[in-house]
Amino acid sequence: MAGLFTPLTIKDVTLRNRIGMSPMTMYRSVDGAMNDFHLMYLGARAAGGFGLVFPEQVAIAPEGRTTVHCAGIYDDAQVEGHARVTAMIKDMGAVAGIQLGHTGRNGSEVPPWEGGLQLPPEHPDGWQVSGPSNIPYGCGKRPYPVHALSVAEIKTLHRQYADAARRALDAGYEWLEMHFAHGYLASEFFSPLANQRTDEYGGSLENRARFLLEALDAVREVWPERLPLTMRLGSDDFHPEGITFEESITAIGWMKEHGLDLADISQGGNTDDMVNPIWNDPSAWVARAARLKDRVDIPVTTSWNLGIPANADAAIRSGDVDLVLLGRPALANPHWPVWAARELGTTEPFDLVPKDWGFWLQNFRGHGPSIGWPEPEVSRPAVVTLPQQGAHLQNV
Ligand SMILES: Cc1cc2nc3c(=O)[nH]c(=O)nc-3n(C[C@H](O)[C@H](O)[C@H](O)COP(=O)(O)O)c2cc1C
Repeated sequence: MAGLFTPLTIKDVTLRNRIGMSPMTMYRSVDGAMNDFHLMYLGARAAGGFGLVFPEQVAIAPEGRTTVHCAGIYDDAQVEGHARVTAMIKDMGAVAGIQLGHTGRNGSEVPPWEGGLQLPPEHPDGWQVSGPSNIPYGCGKRPYPVHALSVAEIKTLHRQYADAARRALDAGYEWLEMHFAHGYLASEFFSPLANQRTDEYGGSLENRARFLLEALDAVREVWPERLPLTMRLGSDDFHPEGITFEESITAIGWMKEHGLDLADISQGGNTDDMVNPIWNDPSAWVARAARLKDRVDIPVTTSWNLGIPANADAAIRSGDVDLVLLGRPALANPHWPVWAARELGTTEPFDLVPKDWGFWLQNFRGHGPSIGWPEPEVSRPAVVTLPQQGAHLQNV
């Protein structure tokens, strides 16, 4: 039975364990480039034992960023910065993944800690946002007019996805996730809340999934068969008129036929006006992951509240998910996998750090006080409930 520390092979890529660092936008780029900050931040997580390390949503076009400070791979000149990062991640024993995305109607913003509001198109740091229909996100957050994309512009976007994938390959990424979630462009096409088109890209589920399937096809053409192609789907809007999880199961079945190797399930993010969202639940999406695996025979991952090692391990051991992704736990603790190995007692924790550090930590064995890390607790409840958290993660 696989556990958190069992390697995972998808296509020709093997992760040393089933712990991935989930993509997280860092708002630290200048002109979309990766820099020393990314090298430090991502290298630290790779050295901390993560099997798969994602930077953030990386934009396929300048106007596909969340803010002017967000990363991109829309220009050949950006490849070098990404290549430095992937080389470091690899050197530290992890696999480098990239999440390709476009923010659609939810771009042109200021960073969350500056209010996260949208900037008007005429602002020097803003731009004209676009989406499937001319429907702003609303809820007081993103009020500016949305340009409804023409079919010709949709085709250009698919070319941009493919060009970005080619650059990602050149930069040394070995795992590519398409960002089809969290209220960004692909999720907007998928959701009736944002997509009210009457052409072949709107209306029926088949039509709403078309943008996503064509983007996958465009990327699969340039992304080698030997490397994993995955996607994060906004699989439920938690709104009576939005995406339903049942629809998502059907669409993921289609994506599998289009070459998808693994599905990452998350929330739709197309409205703040949600009914009973599950994101505060411990192991929030694991039961749905199991449902998906049962219906579509495909490897599955998810994030959201898997930061308690026993919960993350249980999600793998039950067979419900194949890989866990950690967002905030990875921010909080770059050595989360080492800590988890100590907590679970199943794996030699210091095998997870670079060999030279491991040598010292294993052979000059220190107790808690000498290494500055508490001894594992003797017993822990299998499932830990969490207090309510802020809703500001809706569109990240
Ligand atoms: C600062 C921050 C930035 C994020 N940026 C992205 C992103 O670029 N792409 C994405 O798919 N999810 C993004 N997320 C969501 C995380 O990848 C993850 O799905 C979410 O935090 C839930 O996992 P957790 O409970 O382990 O934090 C972001 C989350 C945080 C905290």
